[in-house]
Amino acid sequence: MADQHSGKHQVDGPEPRRERKDDHLRLAAEQWTGPGAGGARRNEFDDLEFVHDALGGVSTSDVNLAARVGEWTWATPFYINGMTGGTDRSTEINTQLAIAARETGLTMACGSMSIALEDEEAARGFAVLRRENPDGFLLANIGAGRSADDAARVVDLISADALQLHVNAVQETVMPEGSRDFSTWLSGVAEIVRRSEVPVVVKEVGFGLSRRALARLAEVGVEIADVGGRGGTDFLAIENARRSARDYAFLTGFGQSAAACLLDAGVAGAATGVESARPATILASGGVRNPLDVAKALALGASAVGVAGVFLDAILEGGEDALSDVIKRWQAQLRELCGLLGAADIGALRDADVLVRGRLREHCELRGVD
Ligand code: FNR
Repeated sequence: MADQHSGKHQVDGPEPRRERKDDHLRLAAEQWTGPGAGGARRNEFDDLEFVHDALGGVSTSDVNLAARVGEWTWATPFYINGMTGGTDRSTEINTQLAIAARETGLTMACGSMSIALEDEEAARGFAVLRRENPDGFLLANIGAGRSADDAARVVDLISADALQLHVNAVQETVMPEGSRDFSTWLSGVAEIVRRSEVPVVVKEVGFGLSRRALARLAEVGVEIADVGGRGGTDFLAIENARRSARDYAFLTGFGQSAAACLLDAGVAGAATGVESARPATILASGGVRNPLDVAKALALGASAVGVAGVFLDAILEGGEDALSDVIKRWQAQLRELCGLLGAADIGALRDADVLVRGRLREHCELRGVD
């Protein structure tokens, strides 16, 4: 990431960008593999518990998994979130992600494409996404600090169906070469939304969008936001590891989880009692480890759920076939979960009884959520 033009500490040309992309892949992968890695790590999805209704189930074969996201219908209510692209290694991974997306019908976002604006070779690398998956739903990705022209160029490059616009102030702060000027981001988002020919999805990268942030986005015309919460891939730890002195360890745990954001914003409506302005469609991501986490985010009102680290881990373990297998298993298991939770479609998951425990409950109490 680090897409911004201004407020830089260091020059950020194609070569440092390339190195950063490869650092991100390596350091993120380390968080999801080995003992104590993300797959097993506790997060606030564990503070949510469905109350089992032994006689309330529906037939698994009747479950419709389709997700309504803005004006679109996606066959599956989870998607491959934005990760990478623009270097040899990341093009290889994007190719595998794109093939798995095609084979399973999943929506896919790519990683930040700012490198493609300055580097022909990087641009050719991103083009593989559309080539491998000509009919799939594809989101381009760029940082909120970029211009509307830049945003239009990255959308064109892969004939994207939509644009992910990432907001990542925490990451930029810890990133050695990161931006320190966030003052123009909201007006920049407004301009991009106003001029974009495709719908814009504003997303956090793992620190959450609060009720206030969502209200700001709604005010400037954003209709879709991904709350991108804490508890999964940790960009604070990743950027801190890229520093010679790991000066920012004190920030560990900064931000809100996806579950906290969904409850904070009252996305499921009457279930939480909170009503405030926010984009009409809310997506959730950050720390999604399995189909149960997907079901929990949907039950709290997310329209669809983004997954990055776990899917990257599958690719690194066994390439596109391994990821396709994981996705197909998740699709089947999510259908089964809907069956046992009595949800004939994913909207009906919002009617399930969910208990909120522990730190997440404390968050709700402090924020005045019922
Ligand atoms: C990311 N993420 C990300 N997001 C984005 O909007 N632009 C980007 O360029 C990247 N780059 C990136 C690289 C790698 C290697 C990973 C794993 C992730 C963030 C991603 O979309 C997501 O918000 C977070 O990873 C949290 O989700 P998970 O990983 O906990 O499922």
